[in-house]
Amino acid sequence: MYIETDRLIITQFTEAMAHSHHANSLDADNREFLSDEVCETVEAAREKIAWLSGFYENADGPLVYPILLKDGRHIGHVQACPIQGGWEVGFHIAAAHTRKGYAAEAVRAFLPAVMRRLNIRRIAGICRRDNPASRRVLEKCGFVLESKTRGTCRYSYFTPSVAARHLPQGGDFGNPTKVTDTASVAPLGEMAKARGGEKQQRIRP
Ligand SMILES: CC(C)(COP(=O)(O)OP(=O)(O)OC[C@H]1O[C@@H](n2cnc3c(N)ncnc32)[C@H](O)[C@@H]1OP(=O)(O)O)[C@@H](O)C(=O)NCCC(=O)NCCS
Repeated sequence: MYIETDRLIITQFTEAMAHSHHANSLDADNREFLSDEVCETVEAAREKIAWLSGFYENADGPLVYPILLKDGRHIGHVQACPIQGGWEVGFHIAAAHTRKGYAAEAVRAFLPAVMRRLNIRRIAGICRRDNPASRRVLEKCGFVLESKTRGTCRYSYFTPSVAARHLPQGGDFGNPTKVTDTASVAPLGEMAKARGGEKQQRIRP
């Protein structure tokens, strides 16, 4: 997968990203909210990357993609993970780069590409109730809150053709995207229609 947005590149992990993946994962918020994703050492990050890379071709496990700035700096990742009965989106942006809209920009671009790749029309967003940044990202990206318990918020995102049947006109799907890859044109075309059609992104599977 290769996606380019206005400010970001979403691509596949390489071994060379082990240092930055390790460093990004040490953030306090990551430890708090995604403790199982912390790589305490560069070696642990290298092993994780090798393991994750094995799923890129077959989608039997988590599909995790690094997020880079256009200057090549690795600032986080976005992912789709199998859960019981479906898939869940996940994301992390290194603390030094948060509150600039990067997570929402990445997730908006990632959803149509990964949902097409997995041939799914719904993806879950699950986060702790006391994680307002994560909840806000999901809401900005058009996820609908389905249930809230004392500790957890569960959201769903539907492809625009499905969502159109459930959401009032003008439902928030976030910023429109641009696609030049033929494999991804169809769903994003639908999405652009749902959003009123505007800017685009480059996507390569
Ligand atoms: C959640 C996370 C990915 C957000 O990344 P980001 O690039 O800062 O996200 P964005 O800038 O796109 O959006 C963040 C939104 O949350 C808001 N926000 C951030 N911290 C907040 C807080 N403590 N209280 C309320 N809102 C908050 C921001 O203002 C922004 O909303 P806005 O655009 O309406 O102003 C990042 O904080 C992170 O990686 N956290 C640790 C890992 C994690 O929790 N991942 C999600 C697990 S489900």
